[in-house]
Amino acid sequence: MGNNGAIGVFDSGLGGLTAVRVLKKILPDEKIIYFGDTGRVPYGTRSPEIITKYALDDMNFLSSFGLKAALVACGTVSSVALGALRSAFDIPITGVVEASAKKACSLSKNKRIALLATPATVKNAAHEKYINENFDGYSVMGIGCPMFVPLVENAYVARDCKVTQIIADEYISKLREFSPDCIILGCTHYPIIREVILDSARKLLSDDIQIVDSGEEAAHEIKHFLEQNNLFSDGQMGCVEYYVSDEVYGFRESASLFLGENIESVKKIDITSYHYTENK
Ligand code: DGL
Repeated sequence: MGNNGAIGVFDSGLGGLTAVRVLKKILPDEKIIYFGDTGRVPYGTRSPEIITKYALDDMNFLSSFGLKAALVACGTVSSVALGALRSAFDIPITGVVEASAKKACSLSKNKRIALLATPATVKNAAHEKYINENFDGYSVMGIGCPMFVPLVENAYVARDCKVTQIIADEYISKLREFSPDCIILGCTHYPIIREVILDSARKLLSDDIQIVDSGEEAAHEIKHFLEQNNLFSDGQMGCVEYYVSDEVYGFRESASLFLGENIESVKKIDITSYHYTENK
């Protein structure tokens, strides 16, 4: 695919917008196709088989646009199904695990890193494996936070939202004994409630706690990839097209709020018609 191919980005819902927000800023001339699988969210409480099946369908849909690169802006899919995606599609595919793990190691001084992520991501332990293979002396403690995704998808995102604060305190308090100095937000939905998580971590852990946003780190990795491979667009107008697999209304509202601009072009697609089969 040439320089003017699109960058495909997907997540189970709104979470991947945390990567899109950064991509728009650092790669303003690129065409981005975003897919949020809102009809099947959440992914992070499902089995690896189902997560892989959904991820293959999602990439199958995005591949119909002619991509020069793809960003799996979903911690769960990046942890569980990146290998399956890379074997199935002949597109350079970046996930969010490595970039965020690297960043956390560069920030942590006490070498104790916490991972807040979906239960599937914590169980898979891809961050921990990557860190153990590439860096010395770090320990990682993962906490599954299954309540965060429904809170975000249902717009319980304000910094002073009591419900979200209580849930954040519940999860963060499990880290007290471990006392990390850096937290990876390993699910891309979580930076949408970053302030709530940060307030809780400052209150219960330490004032100097560092937070790593996986979507943001992966967006920088995509830029680096385009740079290394001479794939920056040739002066086309940057734009983002949004697709979802359920009702567009809620997505449009929340996305507009989060990205700080009106999102008009959201289209609903039938993801089941992009079902991936090996001999497509
Ligand atoms: N945003 C996703 C992640 O990064 C998926 C969350 C979910 O659907 O459970 O893990």
